[in-house]
Amino acid sequence: MDERENRDEDLLSWFIGNSDNSAEFLRDIFISFILAGPDTTSAALTWFFWLLSSRPDVLQRIHQELKTMRASNGKNVDDTFSFDELREMHYLNASISEALRLMEAIWGNDCREFRPERWLKNGMVKQESPFWFSVFHAGLRMCLGNHMAYTQMKSIAAAVIERFEIEVQA
Ligand code: HEM
Repeated sequence: MDERENRDEDLLSWFIGNSDNSAEFLRDIFISFILAGPDTTSAALTWFFWLLSSRPDVLQRIHQELKTMRASNGKNVDDTFSFDELREMHYLNASISEALRLMEAIWGNDCREFRPERWLKNGMVKQESPFWFSVFHAGLRMCLGNHMAYTQMKSIAAAVIERFEIEVQA
């Protein structure tokens, strides 16, 4: 079995298991994980789930995307999504991005509307310039964990959405 397909392996174990990675690289990856990852992704997901709680239509579309992916790949709800599958979750990706954007000057008059579709073209996520979508900063100081953050957030969001009903209590 390809080691990437080992469903019991966590991400850090995967990095350690990859013999191309030097000790210095592993040290830097672990420090990034510990310092830069948890608070940012958990704050982003908190906001994402809060917005989602008022949009059953968006939640329904995410459910549909996950269901379609499971059906086409012959997987059960207990199976972990692979990196490739997470990459293909365009609607979920768009929904998370939509929860992370802000300014009216960039996003237009409907900036207060939660509309994941603004991120999609022919069902695929459009890559906006980081100077427009600046939550990960832009230029030399841009977040190095940008893609990792999406992988983590999509994986957690998908697992929660498939298993629980989300209700926000005031
Ligand atoms: C929603 C999640 C995240 C957001 C919004 C975010 C945002 C940012 C921002 C705005 C910066 C620039 C900070 C500055 O200029 O002082 C940054 C830097 C950084 N982020 Fe993230 N981040 C997220 C998740 C992550 C994750 C999961 C990782 C690693 C696994 C990570 C690794 C880093 C690193 C290493 C830097 C420093 C880049 C450098 O200055 O060379 N981030 N992040």
